[in-house]
Amino acid sequence: MIEVTDLTKSFGPLAVLKGMTFRVVRGAFVVVLGPSGAGKSTLLRCLNGLVRPNGGSVIVDGIVLDRRHLATVRKRVGFIFQGVNVHGNQTVLQNVLVGRLAEKAPWGVLFSKEDHRIALAAIDRVGLGEKAAVRASSLSGGQRQRVGIARALAHDPAVLLADEPVSSLDPVTGREILELLRAINRERGTTVVCNLHDVGLATRVADRLLGLRAGEIVFDGPPDQLTTENLARLYGECLPDPFAAEVTR
Ligand SMILES: Nc1ncnc2c1ncn2[C@@H]1O[C@H](COP(=O)(O)OP(=O)(O)O)[C@@H](O)[C@H]1O
Ligand SMILES: [Mg+2]
Repeated sequence: MIEVTDLTKSFGPLAVLKGMTFRVVRGAFVVVLGPSGAGKSTLLRCLNGLVRPNGGSVIVDGIVLDRRHLATVRKRVGFIFQGVNVHGNQTVLQNVLVGRLAEKAPWGVLFSKEDHRIALAAIDRVGLGEKAAVRASSLSGGQRQRVGIARALAHDPAVLLADEPVSSLDPVTGREILELLRAINRERGTTVVCNLHDVGLATRVADRLLGLRAGEIVFDGPPDQLTTENLARLYGECLPDPFAAEVTR
């Protein structure tokens, strides 16, 4: 479903992704772990073309992500952002309908009955059926993130990318949101790649963990293979640290 080959990205002199290669099979729930600054957000943004890599290739659902195919790939990918980016003065439905824009030519922003049907189904799925007509500003943090998920679902993505989707939520609400993503992954077969910094949550929901450190993959495997030694390598605690030079570069 996703094929990343020798992906590199630098911001000026700062090498953020240093030649990353991995595959994600259809229907997987992959969590990307790693310390702040490891390159998790940059990697996720490269997967839907929000960031243009310096080298390497990204293939999503058989389509090479280049300038020519950017719009095609974007249609296949839903993105859920870190802080929740819903528009408070619009209703839940209006916020979710925006997800349908990916399907439309920029000049045709009239939403059809079909758009409404799909948006309302997405709102229902995230448990906000009663709230469709309510202004987003009156929702709790967890409910707002549900709006973000419904918006991503509204264009029926093959892949969902989520960048720290629970970092602004309390632990219980955060877990509920991740369990919702996990349920959507199971019932629709939607491939999910999710950045998290909470190791406990990550091991709970993921099929597979990708551990990033200073722009390189230092762990790749199922949660039950994540040993304390692996964790130390990832976060640089406890063990002598062969990666320290990389981090501070
Ligand atoms: N647009 C940008 N311009 C310059 N530097 C950036 C930009 N985006 C990210 N960086 C830098 O790249 C590094 C990795 O950032 P990021 O991908 O956000 O890491 P993470 O999500 O793992 O915390 C950081 O040092 C960050 O400051
Ligand atoms: Mg980040």
